[in-house]
Amino acid sequence: GTAEGEATVIFVLGGPGAGKGTQCSNIVRDYGFKHLSAGDLLREEQDRQGSDFGDLIKEYIRDGKIVPMEVTIQLLENAMQATIKNDGVNKFLIDGFPRKMDQAIQFEKSVCKSNFTLFFECTEKVMEERLLNRGKTSGRADDNEESIRKRFRTFVETSMPVVEYFDKDGRVVKIQAVQTPDEVYEHVKLGFAERGIKLV
Ligand code: AP5
Repeated sequence: GTAEGEATVIFVLGGPGAGKGTQCSNIVRDYGFKHLSAGDLLREEQDRQGSDFGDLIKEYIRDGKIVPMEVTIQLLENAMQATIKNDGVNKFLIDGFPRKMDQAIQFEKSVCKSNFTLFFECTEKVMEERLLNRGKTSGRADDNEESIRKRFRTFVETSMPVVEYFDKDGRVVKIQAVQTPDEVYEHVKLGFAERGIKLV
């Protein structure tokens, strides 16, 4: 198949503020994966001069809604191809994706199968506190109470079914994410060891 078809792919899911990005930094450092965040790719595309999708992405992100699949999958696939070509790396941590059943089905059909999904479990109260705190300095347009509430709703209604779908065939590694970042990372390392993912 294509180069991406042979890649190692780990999806990273969890509610807004569960700590996906924080833990991905640790994983990249120790396991040699390339981190691709769907949210970051969308924010970059939103800000890119001449993008056809800037306004659309802006509106979806502010409302905490899932950006249409075509845009998100294309950005991811481009980033994967560029990484394989330029860095010779074909191990990917795909953060914040797939957040909707159509993305999960389409990605695995047209790009490649994922090895497993790392799922960060956290309470809504803790996640909200983290995001409101980050919002003071992040400048993110969606770190305000109203957007956060909408992001939670989207997560529960639209993204949790994806986690349940992968869980049915034993492809979810659940991580308790309310503790400190270091403690959470210890759980991640155990989960990786169980799945045969080695430190580099
Ligand atoms: P995205 O950018 O993915 O945001 P999110 O899922 O809401 O998650 P965050 O980045 O806010 O949080 P995180 O879990 O990474 O936590 P972090 O490590 O930063 O998506 C934004 C939007 O883009 C979506 O709403 C949607 O509109 C669109 N989008 C994204 N993906 C899409 C897709 N696949 N399809 C379509 N649309 C898509 O931590 C948060 C804070 O807490 C930080 O300040 C951190 O320092 C702190 N913290 C982290 N861990 C801990 C800990 N253990 N203890 C204490 N503090 C901690």
